[in-house]
Amino acid sequence: MKTGKVDALLGIVFGDEGKGKIVDFFTPKYDVVARFAGGPNAGHTIIFDGKKFVLRSIPSGIFDEGKVNIIGNGCVIAPDLFMAEARELEAAGYDLTNRLHISKRAHLILPTHRVLDRAYEAAKGKGKVGTTGKGIGPTYSDKAARIGLRVGDILEGFEEKYQALKARHEQILRDLHYTDYDISDDERNWMAGVEYMRRFQLSDTELEINQLLREGKNVLAEGAQGSLLDIDHGTYPFVSSSSTTCGGVCTGLGVAPGTIGEVFGIFKAYSTRVGSGPFPVELFDETGDTIRRIGNEYGAVTGRNRRCGWIDLVALKYAIMINGVTQLVMMKGDVLDDFATIKVCTAYRKNGETTTTMPYDTAGWEAVYEELPGWQTDLTAIRDEKDFPPAFKAYISYLEEQLATPIRIVSVGPDREATIIR
Ligand code: IMP
Repeated sequence: MKTGKVDALLGIVFGDEGKGKIVDFFTPKYDVVARFAGGPNAGHTIIFDGKKFVLRSIPSGIFDEGKVNIIGNGCVIAPDLFMAEARELEAAGYDLTNRLHISKRAHLILPTHRVLDRAYEAAKGKGKVGTTGKGIGPTYSDKAARIGLRVGDILEGFEEKYQALKARHEQILRDLHYTDYDISDDERNWMAGVEYMRRFQLSDTELEINQLLREGKNVLAEGAQGSLLDIDHGTYPFVSSSSTTCGGVCTGLGVAPGTIGEVFGIFKAYSTRVGSGPFPVELFDETGDTIRRIGNEYGAVTGRNRRCGWIDLVALKYAIMINGVTQLVMMKGDVLDDFATIKVCTAYRKNGETTTTMPYDTAGWEAVYEELPGWQTDLTAIRDEKDFPPAFKAYISYLEEQLATPIRIVSVGPDREATIIR
């Protein structure tokens, strides 16, 4: 019998590429939707039946009764935030308990992990990562240090394990002289979240997913964050703490490399970044403000202003290589509708040196641009590629040629219908 495949849908820049919309568009084709990395630092916005949902930990296949949704072992999960997210979906009429499977191997974000996140950031002074404050880094640190708590731990002897890890965190916080915090409300809610989680299928999801593949079921691995926030391949140390790239699909779900089918790489027609870290294409002028305003570039999780700039081919080529992207998905083409000229970063320059490949550290490099004519046409009502203005067609062709990868989907507006397959 033909076995199923795992297609990966990955943000290939700094996150916020619009994965929520595209996952929602893709899910009908898949039997299983699985998250493999990250946690409540993500915010996948889905507009569904006129209602807006921001999914943080829960996979985007949750709206469909017939789908299996998996939170894989590579994820981290905050029981209190998970409960709030799940309850919102339940209040909207979606029954989650039969549709959602949570890996026993996924790690738990404790209230003290969030305090540690703040404490480490405070201690960094100027070198702050600008984290989402959700405790992501400290949780993955404990995982790597082999002292973390996993979802499976809530099934046996949990209180003791919890208190031991909490005490360890409190000691670190005392050492850092970071003592002005109170987690009592947070902790009550968190414990309620742990109780709430027990009603779900806490399971060996790596066994389940492989069984489903053997049965010929197809899996969509829903990426979180973006490739340049990957712990190994991102702009370290200004990264998240998980493997957000395609390799993370294998480790974060327990699927073999040979099961990977298509790798969809999502990017925007321009660039954004939230939090600190080098960003050679960043615009500090009116153009940057205009992109932010038209593109509504404010963080889904933190509400922070996103830093904006022109598209960055150096970064995109790197991400395409690392992930083995087979098809590209370009989002938010319409945000550039009004510009007479569109710039494209084709190289970085520093101290007289020019590079077209990703440097070890992108700090201090400035962008080298090529200019293309803008289309100055409203794209949002277009539903067929043949109606694209010539300058927009030329922009797409130029990118495809430069990136040596086909752009199969082009999104020109927030509506589901504004998603054009080529
Ligand atoms: P953390 O994941 O909260 O530790 O944050 C590390 C860095 O990744 C910060 O610069 C965050 O702004 C960024 N980040 C984390 N999650 C996302 C996301 O979903 N979209 C965009 N940026 C993110």
